[in-house]
Order: sequence, then C-alpha cells, then structure tokens
Amino acid sequence: MNQALYLILLLIALCSVSECVQRQYHFINERKTWTEAQRYCREKYTDLATADNMNDMNELMKSVNDGGFQYVWIGLQKTGRDEWQWSSGEPALYLNWAPGQPEGSFCGMMKNGKFEDLPCTDVRNFICDNTNTGLVFINQMKSWRDAQSYCRQNHIDLVSVRNQDENQQVQKIISDNNLSGSHVWIGLFRVRDPWQWSDQSDSSFRDWDTVEPNNQGGNENCTVVKLNAQGKWNDISCTSQFPFVCHEGDFCLCFVWFPDKLIVIRENLTWSEALRYCRQNHVDLVSVHSEEIQRRVMNVVKRASTAEVWLGLRHSCILGVWFWVSGDTVCYQNWAPGNGTSEEDCEHTVRSGAVQSGGDQRWISRPETHKLNFICSRY
Ligand SMILES: *[C@@H]1O[C@H](CO)[C@@H](O)[C@H](O)[C@H]1NC(C)=O
Ligand SMILES: *[C@@H]1O[C@H](CO)[C@@H](O)[C@H](O)[C@H]1NC(C)=O
Ligand SMILES: *[C@@H]1O[C@H](CO)[C@@H](O)[C@H](O)[C@H]1NC(C)=O
Ligand SMILES: *[C@@H]1O[C@H](CO)[C@@H](O)[C@H](O)[C@H]1NC(C)=O
Repeated sequence: MNQALYLILLLIALCSVSECVQRQYHFINERKTWTEAQRYCREKYTDLATADNMNDMNELMKSVNDGGFQYVWIGLQKTGRDEWQWSSGEPALYLNWAPGQPEGSFCGMMKNGKFEDLPCTDVRNFICDNTNTGLVFINQMKSWRDAQSYCRQNHIDLVSVRNQDENQQVQKIISDNNLSGSHVWIGLFRVRDPWQWSDQSDSSFRDWDTVEPNNQGGNENCTVVKLNAQGKWNDISCTSQFPFVCHEGDFCLCFVWFPDKLIVIRENLTWSEALRYCRQNHVDLVSVHSEEIQRRVMNVVKRASTAEVWLGLRHSCILGVWFWVSGDTVCYQNWAPGNGTSEEDCEHTVRSGAVQSGGDQRWISRPETHKLNFICSRY
C-alpha cells in the first residue's frame, strides 16, 4: 500500500479509538480588548471560546459566574468580506440590500423591492428564470435549495437580479402576485461566511441576536455574548474592553499524533514491581508534571480495572517531599484534598502516588504495597 495512504488510514483508525477531551470554558473577569483577550487565552488555555451548538452555549453561560456584565468576548471574528453569488454562478455585484441587511444568514430574497437574507431552510415562494417565457413566479413554498432544484429542473435557474432594471421586473412580478410585503426567494446566496473562529474551528454554529450582526459604525469585527439577552450574539468593535471566556480541551489531535505515549498496564502490582515493569518493558512509570499530561492520563486511565492506578510519584520520608521518579520536579499538582502533604506516615511503609481511574481523577497517596494497575510512558 502507498505509504501516505497507509499513514492516513492508520490515523483514522487511531482517531476513532481515541477519545477527545471535552471542551471546558473559563470565564476571565478582566476587561481586555478582543486581541488582548485572545492572547491571554492562548497563553493560559487553548483559545478564546468556540461554540459548536446550543449545548456549548449553555456551558459557556454557566462558566460566567459574575452577572455584573453586559457583554463577554468569544472567539468569533470577522476576517474576510461577505461574498455573495447568484445561483447561475455569476458573482453578485449589484446588491440592493434593505437597510440593516444582510444579517448573517446564507440565502437571499426580495421584499418590497429590496434584498434581505434569511436562513436557507425557511420556506418561501420563489421566482425562476426561463429563457423562453422570462420570469416565472412559483406559487409553492420551498426552502432555497429546493427552490433552486425546482427551477433547474423545470426552467433554467433561480432568478438573478443584476441591475436596477431586473430589480424592477422582479419587483413587478411579486406585486402582480399580491406578495409585495412578503419574502420571496431569488437566486442570491452567500459563498463564504466572513466570520471565523479564533481557534480555526470550522463550526458554522451562529446564535446572533435579531438584527445582528449589523456592523453599526462600520468596524464591528468581533463578537460578544449578551448576558442580558439569553446569550445571543452581537458584533462589536474589537477595541472595546470586556471580560471574556477562554476554552480548553478538544484535544483529539494529541491522541492522534501521539496515541501510544502512555499505556495502562492492567496487572495488579505493588508500586516497586510496577516501576520495575515499566523500566524493563517501556521507559518509566508516568510522570505527570503538567496539566497536558494529566489530560492524557485522564484519557487512558479509564481503561484500568482498579479504582486507583500507580503513577511515578514517590514520597521521601528523609526529605519530607514528594518527587517524580523520572527526575521531573513536582510543580503541577492534582492531589485529592488531604493527600500529598509532606508529612506522610513513615512508620510502616513508603507511600507512593496513584491517580483515581474514575470520578475527579485526582492523585492520592497509598502504601506502596497495594496492588494496582499502573501507567507506563513509552518514550
Ligand atoms: C474589519 O474587517 C474587515 C474585513 O476583514 C476589514 O476590511 C476592516 O479593515 C476591519 N476593520 C477594522 C476596524 O479592523
Ligand atoms: C391580487 O389581488 C387582486 C385584488 O384583490 C385580485 O383581483 C387578483 O386576482 C390577485 N392576483 C393574484 C395573482 O392572486
Ligand atoms: C486487579 O484488581 C481488580 C480489582 O480488585 C480486579 O477487578 C482485576 O480482575 C484484577 N486484575 C488482575 C489481572 O488480577
Ligand atoms: C485522600 O483522598 C481520598 C479520595 O478523595 C480520600 O478518601 C482520603 O481521605 C484522602 N486522604 C487523606 C489523608 O485525607
């Protein structure tokens, strides 16, 4: 098999078995501009918050634990221009928008002789173009896509409105059918959403408030969540200063590229036996010296058959400290309350550190003679 193809298949296979760490939101109660907030989130967490669905929005809202604000930044920013096109394939240069339009949807229609955008799934009457008979008003309610299919099958295409003259013709056929004040689909659709997530996520989820984004003042390139409007979104100038929400998690890639860095051994051994086993067969008992490694541990430790799983963590009675057998310093810590103190019981056995395989997955101190599963690092 072609080597590149093999690699891709391998990655797909690994990805499907690895679990993704769920996204977690962190509210930062400091006023910053959007760009400063982005830098802060990228340093301390993963990025400014992304939302994929309403569920994410509910979690994000829950993370905001201080109600004294109107707005908080999220990671959505306008990085490109709106690009509209006609169903026929022509770029839309004549754009006769009604005031305040477009509002962030992807399909275009006419109302009172002006263009407005609507979600493409809305069902409306529509107008087809036919080379022989000219414009044809279709007295059926369809979504934009279905209207397009209908026109392409029965006529030529959904109608293009390329200049003032054509605008008048379309306006006339709508009023002839007594639908002047109604929304009627035309062939207009948006090719590209100018709004992009800071973390490059391709999530197309948007939850704009009504009449947003409106680019009021012409420089509203960033997005806030309106805390006093059920979390609906508003576009705002990026230089305003607001508190913000970061997210972390969504770490599938780590497990894809380094899927076998950690391995859970489902044998019940004492801590010393486990250490020997890892050093003989792999590299070492795992040393969890950062939050990132804790995340990987949390991801693999679920496979263990014991409630606690040995780490390469050891207590020294002489020094009264905990240390990693790998030599890494214990900076990052994740002890369960009451565990990991410098004064351990040194009368009976040496204490070692384990991680809980369920629940909070925190670290606990155990006599090293306990027999537990354990995690080896592989390189
Ligand atoms: C807003 O974004 C648009 C499109 O990327 C860009 O042309 C414009 O300069 C930006 N405005 C500001 C104030 O940054
Ligand atoms: C529009 O309304 C007028 C007056 O009510 C009526 O005579 C005409 O038949 C209607 N046209 C259509 C296409 O329904
Ligand atoms: C290890 O201990 C757990 C919990 O006591 C038990 O369920 C499991 O079967 C044991 N595994 C082995 C390989 O003995
Ligand atoms: C260590 O943590 C475990 C789990 O939370 C708890 O049951 C135990 O009491 C803690 N140990 C001490 C000495 O507090």
